[in-house]
Amino acid sequence: MRILSVTFLVFSEILISSQDEVINNRRFPESFKFGVATSAFQIEGAWNEDGKGESMWDRFLHNNSSKTLDRRNADVACDSYHKWREDVQLLKELGVKIYRFSISWPRILPDGTTNKINQAGVDYYLNLLKELKANNIEPLVTLYHWDLPQHLSELGGWLNPQIVDYFGEFARLSFRLFGDYVRQWTTVNEPKTACLLGYANDYGAPGLWLVADGVYQCAKIQLLAHAKAWHIYDDEFRASQGGKIGFVLDTPWNEPASDSDLDREAAEREMQFGFGWFANPVFIGDWPQVMKDRIANRSKLEGLGFSRLPEFTQKEIDYINGTHDYIGLNIYTGKLVEYLPDYEIGTPNYNFDNGNNVYCDPSWPASSSDWLFYYPSSIRKLVNYVNEKYSPEEIFIAENGWADHGEIDDQSRIRYHKGYLSNLLDAILEDGVNVVGYTAWSFMDNFGWGAGYTHRFGFISVDHDSPNRTRTWKSSGRYYQKVIRTRCLVD
Ligand code: NOJ
Repeated sequence: MRILSVTFLVFSEILISSQDEVINNRRFPESFKFGVATSAFQIEGAWNEDGKGESMWDRFLHNNSSKTLDRRNADVACDSYHKWREDVQLLKELGVKIYRFSISWPRILPDGTTNKINQAGVDYYLNLLKELKANNIEPLVTLYHWDLPQHLSELGGWLNPQIVDYFGEFARLSFRLFGDYVRQWTTVNEPKTACLLGYANDYGAPGLWLVADGVYQCAKIQLLAHAKAWHIYDDEFRASQGGKIGFVLDTPWNEPASDSDLDREAAEREMQFGFGWFANPVFIGDWPQVMKDRIANRSKLEGLGFSRLPEFTQKEIDYINGTHDYIGLNIYTGKLVEYLPDYEIGTPNYNFDNGNNVYCDPSWPASSSDWLFYYPSSIRKLVNYVNEKYSPEEIFIAENGWADHGEIDDQSRIRYHKGYLSNLLDAILEDGVNVVGYTAWSFMDNFGWGAGYTHRFGFISVDHDSPNRTRTWKSSGRYYQKVIRTRCLVD
């Protein structure tokens, strides 16, 4: 290993000190963008300051404090609404090329509609964008990271087809206001999880326990909203702004639990229900066939005369198909998938529509979160799968990260990023997959939805008990800083 490092010193202009051990002795391409990610609701705080409207998550948490593990909410979060200058300095010190953050819809449109624009909210994002530019950091801006304006939620939220038009207006305004500074946009972050958390049960806002019916309706409307924003950008802004726009999907890598044909089919079905569900309409057209068949069949067995999966018209299929310039992936872990001979009939339930036994191998190292395990080859397998199946122009890893209880000397997070990045590098250099960037989750410890502040993902620690929300570097932040500087996975 030592020899490899030294060889590197000879051939590279990048200085890697001789005691650095290289675990994957190649460099990330110069064009590869390293960065970090956050979202507005999880870091900004200032939930009702300077004219910001209420979001459905504000309402959800204020109504019932037991919705988070620590009974805390995001009223202050990391206080980034006030500390953005300090945050940009931290980003600069980290050395990132790109910063992924989201715009809070109710901060610029308090009731979600363009009836009233909140200038203080607009200024907040303009100031942030200018500060990033002054520090040579590119923004990757997400339009929707789950904080729907409460007013629109009361209109039916993601179950009301009119939200598509409201989202279109919000997107158009954002392109107009901020587009001079932004070259990469995300329409919707993790539509699957947003729909499942809020419309299948009450783990997330708005907390409607509508089981599978709510999820499928929400999915259809989020796909139409994504497509609307993409078309607005394409028709009205692409020529003058020249940016890219796509969506960000989340999935674990689902691997067959055994070599049996049944487990292989089950794993592929799991990918289709959890990923193809959104990727298929955008990259191929319409829902995946396996979803159409299976849900129609279950609906029939339940005595319904129609499928619980809402159909797209041909016009809608054509409108959604092709609305991508890249694909963003949030990949954290792997899962093993086992075929279940019988799946329960009689409940309109998303999990039963799918009907697999999905679990993590107990030998994989566990994080503090019950859904997140260390399985580093998952990222390489997933990007290859996505590349072969959907042929996106580019793949961007929009989130990848590790949860712990907030250790400052967070060696398990270092191991995680090193292992995943090493596999990603193999995917790029050996498999030839066009992965162009990586924004790790997360820049700093932040509000983790139902987890409150109990599980920490940050490179920078935030003291959520101090009024000042003091930031402190963790060992992983220093490690990532070195990776970015050297473009190598040094120790
Ligand atoms: C994905 C979501 O986009 C983000 O908001 C969340 O905090 C992380 N996963 C970690 O759970």
